[in-house]
Amino acid sequence: MTVSTAPGQQRVLGLPDPGEKVPGLAGPTAALYVGTLALFVAEVYGVLAGGWTPWLTIPMGAAVTFLMFSVLHEATHHAISTDTRLNNLFGHLSQPFVATYTTFPMIKFIHIEHHRNTNEPKSVDPDSWTSEGPWWQLPFRWMSIDLWYLVFYLRRIFERPKSESVPTVLAFATVMGTFGWLFTTSYAGELATFLIGQRIGLGILAWWFDYLPHHGLTATQRDDKYQATRVRVGGEAWLTPLFVYQNYHLIHHLHPSIPFYRYVRAWRRNEQAYLDRNAAISTWFGRSLTPSEYRTWRRITEDLRATPDRAGAQRPLFHALRVRSVAPLTSESSVVTFDVPADLAHEYRYVQGQHITLRAIIDGEEVRRSYSITAPVSEGTLRVAVKQIEGGRFSTYVNNQLQAGDILDVMSPTGRFHTALEPAAKRTYAAVAAGSGITAILSNITTTLETEPESSFTLVYGNRTSDSTMFWAELHELGDRLTVHHVLSREPGAAHSGRITADLVRELVPQDVDAWFLCGPQQLVESLSAALPGRVLTEVFHTEQAHVDLAIDVESQVTVALDGVESTFELRSSGDTILDAALQQGLEPPYSCAGGACGTCRAKVLLGKAVMDQNHALDNDEVATGYVLTCQAHPVTEELRLDYDA
Ligand code: FES
Repeated sequence: MTVSTAPGQQRVLGLPDPGEKVPGLAGPTAALYVGTLALFVAEVYGVLAGGWTPWLTIPMGAAVTFLMFSVLHEATHHAISTDTRLNNLFGHLSQPFVATYTTFPMIKFIHIEHHRNTNEPKSVDPDSWTSEGPWWQLPFRWMSIDLWYLVFYLRRIFERPKSESVPTVLAFATVMGTFGWLFTTSYAGELATFLIGQRIGLGILAWWFDYLPHHGLTATQRDDKYQATRVRVGGEAWLTPLFVYQNYHLIHHLHPSIPFYRYVRAWRRNEQAYLDRNAAISTWFGRSLTPSEYRTWRRITEDLRATPDRAGAQRPLFHALRVRSVAPLTSESSVVTFDVPADLAHEYRYVQGQHITLRAIIDGEEVRRSYSITAPVSEGTLRVAVKQIEGGRFSTYVNNQLQAGDILDVMSPTGRFHTALEPAAKRTYAAVAAGSGITAILSNITTTLETEPESSFTLVYGNRTSDSTMFWAELHELGDRLTVHHVLSREPGAAHSGRITADLVRELVPQDVDAWFLCGPQQLVESLSAALPGRVLTEVFHTEQAHVDLAIDVESQVTVALDGVESTFELRSSGDTILDAALQQGLEPPYSCAGGACGTCRAKVLLGKAVMDQNHALDNDEVATGYVLTCQAHPVTEELRLDYDA
């Protein structure tokens, strides 16, 4: 994700990382080839031996051409395999079913010209043939696209390498000679059946691969690649398989080497980023949508599709948000602020102490981390602070690479690290924060002092030195209702040095406290939590891996409800966690830390029982009402039903 700005020009946003790689072998594409080959064999049998009616065999032939083009198209973009020879093999083996008298290298050259020159005149973008001319010509143009390809190629044949042009000419002469001879034999009718089916298939693919994604768009690839090709949204359940995913053709033009079956996923992953770049969108029946109209349309259609459960659900969701700013906080931490579009504002409303999960593809791998929102609730700004962790992939990425204008996946806020506030209350609060633990506490302090004018806060705050202390200045500007005791482990002459202990906390906060907020490493939080009286709210980072020894080991039928859709799988008590098992099923439940600390993965047990390895996020009330952290939970009954939407 990079941002470039040319002097005097409008800022240009970089291409979002689709997070999809070329696989060793694209299984669905290989399966498509094998399935289509079987269809072709059936067609041949039907025409030559079965005596099947042309009303059946011609559509079969059209389907063979259309589906084989999908394989050929993938090979053209090197999207079938990282192994070039295997990739090309699929190209050579699929090409005869599409345009028998040409060669794979010729088709590849012509198709790449289309990508380079999208929406230019047909003399440079060969696929513009499909949308030039009056409406009544269009079906004929679609069915003759290969003839235009021949003209296009002949005009350049002497510029092409001989290793490509000579085999192409020989293939053309051989196939045409064979066809001519066959037409003089008794097989003329059978050959005509094949060729009619192929012609119809070519017409459909020119219509769906070329005309629908590009017609009416005036921007060329060079002008604006986001406006040169469109996505066609809605009706995905039937349109996507029917179009072999070309309803998301814009994704193909932006990221040509993504396998076709990943287009929708790539769009969803960076949807906000594409909308920010003014992607061309139309509904499945052809109405153009601006990005803003699309956001509204998507929300309406998804609300309509939602079950009653989902409509009322609070499950956090990822959206791609633009980074408004990245500013240094200390020498080893930065503050990151996000822009939230108006139509998503309701999803990013937060209460003090909540956190958001950030997700990015770093070195080709998905990495997630959760960070507390540091702004007070009254400000409503989505702002987090990220401290550099030694060897930490995400914190290194944020502190060294992330910049304003970049797009990140940001989950809507979660977490219950707060108490209910009452403006008339006069309470005494205290907090203990170690290092970046202040990020979860800062918003609690500022929001509480704003909302309860009679209340006061005492903070015991541990760091190595004053220089490494996050929000030092901000804390000291909050007035005399906040008392801060700094405990600095490596600063000679500090008023309080060494480590934070329960004895030190009791010495610094001798008064009665209505609620304690503790945030820091697991060991510190656990020891203080056991020693401090009254109500104690905790939040930890750096949990140790834990595993409970279960006295029972059952094979459980686990049913999880996610977005109102139920999925069932089998899982042993001694096996993976419920979260891992759900991810392996291809589900997308929410999670972040996977260590029992953040609470993002919580779900409610509706039937049966699950046992957690550890829990640092749910309070006793939540556990009593049946919530579990699925990243820590194992089934211990033969049937278990959980609801992520509850
Ligand atoms: S993902 Fe953080 S508690 Fe489960």
